[in-house]
Amino acid sequence: MNADKRGLTGKFYVTTPIYYVNDVPHLGHAYTTVAADVLARYHRAGGDDVFFLTGTDEHGQKAEQAAKKAGRDVHEYVAEEAEEFRALWKTLNVSNDDFIRTTEERHKKVVRAAMRTLFDKGEIYEGSYEGWYCVPDERFWTEKDLKDGNCPECGRKVEHIMEKNYFFRMGNYRDRLIEKIMKGELEIHPASRMNEVLGFLRKELGDLCISRPKSRLAWGIELPFDGEYVTYVWFDALVNYISALGYPDGDKYKKFWPADVHLIGKDILTTHCVYWTTMLMALDLPLPKQIYAHGWWTVEGQKMSKSLGNTVSPEKAVEAVGVDQFRYFLMREVPFGLDGDFNANALINRINVDLANNLGNLVSRVLTMVEKYNDSLVPQPRAYSVVEKFSKYWGVDWGKPRQGMEGLDPNLSFKETIDYFNEHMKKFRFHLSLEKIINLCDTLNEVIQVNKPWDLAKDPSKKEELDKVLYVGVETIRLIGKSISPFMPESAEKLKRMLGLSDWGDWNWGGLKLGTKIIAGETLFPRIDEKKAEEIKAMLAPKEPAQKAEGQAQITYEDFMKADLRTGVVVSAEPVEKSKKLLKLQVDLGSETRQIVAGIAEHYKPEDLAGKTVVVVANLKPAKLMGVESRGMLLAANDEGKLVLAGTWEPVKGGLKVK
Ligand code: MSP
Repeated sequence: MNADKRGLTGKFYVTTPIYYVNDVPHLGHAYTTVAADVLARYHRAGGDDVFFLTGTDEHGQKAEQAAKKAGRDVHEYVAEEAEEFRALWKTLNVSNDDFIRTTEERHKKVVRAAMRTLFDKGEIYEGSYEGWYCVPDERFWTEKDLKDGNCPECGRKVEHIMEKNYFFRMGNYRDRLIEKIMKGELEIHPASRMNEVLGFLRKELGDLCISRPKSRLAWGIELPFDGEYVTYVWFDALVNYISALGYPDGDKYKKFWPADVHLIGKDILTTHCVYWTTMLMALDLPLPKQIYAHGWWTVEGQKMSKSLGNTVSPEKAVEAVGVDQFRYFLMREVPFGLDGDFNANALINRINVDLANNLGNLVSRVLTMVEKYNDSLVPQPRAYSVVEKFSKYWGVDWGKPRQGMEGLDPNLSFKETIDYFNEHMKKFRFHLSLEKIINLCDTLNEVIQVNKPWDLAKDPSKKEELDKVLYVGVETIRLIGKSISPFMPESAEKLKRMLGLSDWGDWNWGGLKLGTKIIAGETLFPRIDEKKAEEIKAMLAPKEPAQKAEGQAQITYEDFMKADLRTGVVVSAEPVEKSKKLLKLQVDLGSETRQIVAGIAEHYKPEDLAGKTVVVVANLKPAKLMGVESRGMLLAANDEGKLVLAGTWEPVKGGLKVK
């Protein structure tokens, strides 16, 4: 592997896949984009000229069908959906330099030009296609590809089709592609994914159908050499990586291509490592230096999908725990490249253990000491070098580590720590880089514990020693802040201000200058207490699987009729004391007025409820909520955490049977 390719070589071009607009932006999309953002910020901070590209993939059957289903004009529909992605990247503090939409003229123009070039060179030819087609995946399959007669990739039904189409001579490039991968001219990471691609290429590589007849799909980029056809959506989408740079003669293209890394999910390995690379070869263009495929997130063990309704909303996660905390979790929890499972407990734990108890506390501990013992000023740095071992700062003969501190390595040096951090950043091992920084916090805590600056401060003859410990504390915090800044930009900014810095400086020891004024007192990462944890879990709980989920128990009509559902008219409503969530309602059920306690205080104002018709489960066992009796339950729909009460279309009197 050529280290230079990953190093800080002056320019860095990083891309994410462009996302389909028919899906709501979810955790999976956020993952790739945050990872790309971390890389972009890291390289920018290292002095590279960075271009970070993301965007939306707006053509093809999926988008067309989604617009139709929503009863919308497809142009308007895709534009709105693209905005959702753009807004999410803002929320997640993503610093992309451009956002490309495949419906933009700047993109379509390049796709047409590329198709024309390939056609004129004879790399695209007209042929006839007979075989199987998976509509949702927009992929052709041969008879032997099928699994039990269905799409081998998604398991859904395939359609048999026969039609004239255009084909790209992809098969011609098989051997050259293998050679480039073997020589490391195209790096595919992790190694397991490279092997997967090589395994795929071991079989014969056929030509690729790159057109779709307009009669079947009109929503695409028209082929420049046949007006009856549009471009296959993948052939269109992949071109975004060069169209956004203004290929063929844009300045950005000249400067940034080839890409330093395409970050992708493992699901789109073949399209990137085989379709895209052979297409570039046919166009005589250099290949991207690296393609990195990360793993797949599941949610509480289940595959995330829109139809199952169990997608995790990144917006909600940010609202629940804060943007930096969420970004940290994504990058720290799962080794980049492997699959991971999202659950709220793990998220809360990570934040509390790593960020609140460790890093956050350490910062406030050190800065408070500087405030108290040195008038908030950075003390004399003295001549400590980065290569010195931590053991030097123990002040005592370390001997055996104290009980409970066995994990710490007193012989570790600052330099080793920082080198390790950087080495893993360049190899996309974000979790290891972060782990090291959190370990550094442990070590610094221990340095303080052993050297007891609070005792040194009592003895004026120990001023020099005190300065030494305080300086080691604040300077280590500077390096910690610099390391975490690509991951947690907002908190790092705050920390930078607290350290009295306008920029982080370099990785060398001694960046904090004598007399710099420190501002202590701000909490970087608040701890999540039990009450808040419960709220977060409720906010992030996956929605109930849709009814069609297999295995869901079915009930008989008699079962259903056991629930006595009645209309009710709200007479009055008031908050329940000391509860943020509960309202106490008096509801007219015709023959009686019932007291019902409902968890709707965050969704309805008491004064808006009087006179409304609701649906009540009238034969529910009475229960006490926060000490208040409730005799019945209101029905409500849960729209991603927002409760909407069920009622009747027209106002009716209370007590009517609902069935
Ligand atoms: N439009 C194509 C990509 C074209 S790139 C020229 C596409 N879009 S997608 O919206 O379906 O997915 C894009 C990417 O989102 C995946 O490759 C992956 O990076 C990310 N993820 C979507 N769901 C995911 C998970 N459940 N887990 C992790 N990442 C996932 O494919």
